[in-house]
Amino acid sequence: MSIDYSEKIPNNVNLSEDRTLKRALEQWQPNYLHWWRDMGPEGSTDYDVYLRTAVSVDPQGWAQFGYVKMPEYRWGIFLNPGEKDRKIHFGDHKGEPVWQDVPGEHRANLRRIIVTQGDTEPASVEQQRHLGLTCPSQYDLRNLFQVNVEEGRHLWAMVYLLHKYFGRDGREEGEALLERRSGNQDNPRILQAFNEKTPDWLSFFMFTYFTDRDGKFQLCALAESSFDPLARTTKFMLTEEAHHMFVGESGVSRVIQRTCQVMNELKTDDPGRLRAAGVIDLPTIQRYLNFHFSVTIDLFGADESSNAATFYSSGLKGRFEEGKRTDDHQLRGLTYKVLHAEGDRLAEKDVPMPNALNEVLRDDYIRDSIGGVERWNKVIEKAGIPFRLKVPHKAFNRKIGSLAGIKVSPDGRVVHDHEWNMSVEQWLPTDEDRAFVASLMGRVIEPGKFANWIAPPAIGINRQPVAFEYVRFN
Ligand SMILES: [Fe+2]
Ligand SMILES: [Fe+2]
Repeated sequence: MSIDYSEKIPNNVNLSEDRTLKRALEQWQPNYLHWWRDMGPEGSTDYDVYLRTAVSVDPQGWAQFGYVKMPEYRWGIFLNPGEKDRKIHFGDHKGEPVWQDVPGEHRANLRRIIVTQGDTEPASVEQQRHLGLTCPSQYDLRNLFQVNVEEGRHLWAMVYLLHKYFGRDGREEGEALLERRSGNQDNPRILQAFNEKTPDWLSFFMFTYFTDRDGKFQLCALAESSFDPLARTTKFMLTEEAHHMFVGESGVSRVIQRTCQVMNELKTDDPGRLRAAGVIDLPTIQRYLNFHFSVTIDLFGADESSNAATFYSSGLKGRFEEGKRTDDHQLRGLTYKVLHAEGDRLAEKDVPMPNALNEVLRDDYIRDSIGGVERWNKVIEKAGIPFRLKVPHKAFNRKIGSLAGIKVSPDGRVVHDHEWNMSVEQWLPTDEDRAFVASLMGRVIEPGKFANWIAPPAIGINRQPVAFEYVRFN
């Protein structure tokens, strides 16, 4: 499964044997590069960046690190090896062989799933395109760029599926993926979290921790798919996603570490004094966390969804770790508890499990995201500071599903407009918070130097020193 880099489009799918597909992708490639130059990391075209490039899809395949100019990054098509005699393992078709092609009756739904996933990839690059101008260090700048080129590759992964399996419709979708723009009024990205701004590095770290983790869960569900090329594609994407979440978790952790250090030096928890000392106070970090968590869990969709049921029963999209679950993988007679508002309080009701699968995935996601928050709390605890970060209640600040119409505090109380309006400044980042965080964002690019508001990492990338020259600016 090694990757053929002699081709114009690196791949491990024998692209040279499929001339029509090769031609279609080679026509898309310059449009992609045009999009990258337009909407990719601002001003970065000539930088030599110390990036990893996949040389094969096995775990050792990431070993190749070297300086690359980003527009010359070897974006390509990498699928995990197929499993021999793989069988559909959930839904109505359970036990039948997996599909190597798209069944006609599932074509529209599969296309929609692939386009929706594909749309998030360039969207995040667009959201992050100005961040390089305010990087806190070369190390962080390099990590940003690594995330960006890999999101670009994820777009390639989805466009490959569209071109290969969806004919002209697929090619048109491939073009549209390069035309929508994050935050654009007339032609926005499909999902709302991908139209929000990522204006500063605290937002970036929160985004890569929370929102890239949504990516992980969506990809895990698609890695179960009966459409085998989709399963194999998403499995490889997951190996890339892990790094993105590392960037987020370690980034937030280093912000917290630096804040705690200054809190102890100044012996204060007063946000005003800490801000004057140039670090981000913990309550502000909590508000950013509340925002990114709540916006991200909306991405899982409505809590009751007949689409989710259809995607599962028809075998298009499984559950997280479907193979490890011990039920019948058809969910017959099973129910799941879903929250809704009953007057002034939240109440649970039982919903047929297939219709609650968005909620099931959301709850799996929530369990997973709590882990890193606990590790952040360890940093605060170790500094001897009596403050704990917490993910807000899942009904807090929701815009999608049955919880969208009500106002709920981070601790899970239904509140009236009056209390919401009185308290929202303690719960979500205010304009003032954002302006303060923005005011800290200066550009630090001397190797080994870090902005005042963030601690250096414990180790560098690929066993290089922290002070390594990760980016050459030319
Ligand atoms: Fe991605
Ligand atoms: Fe990602």
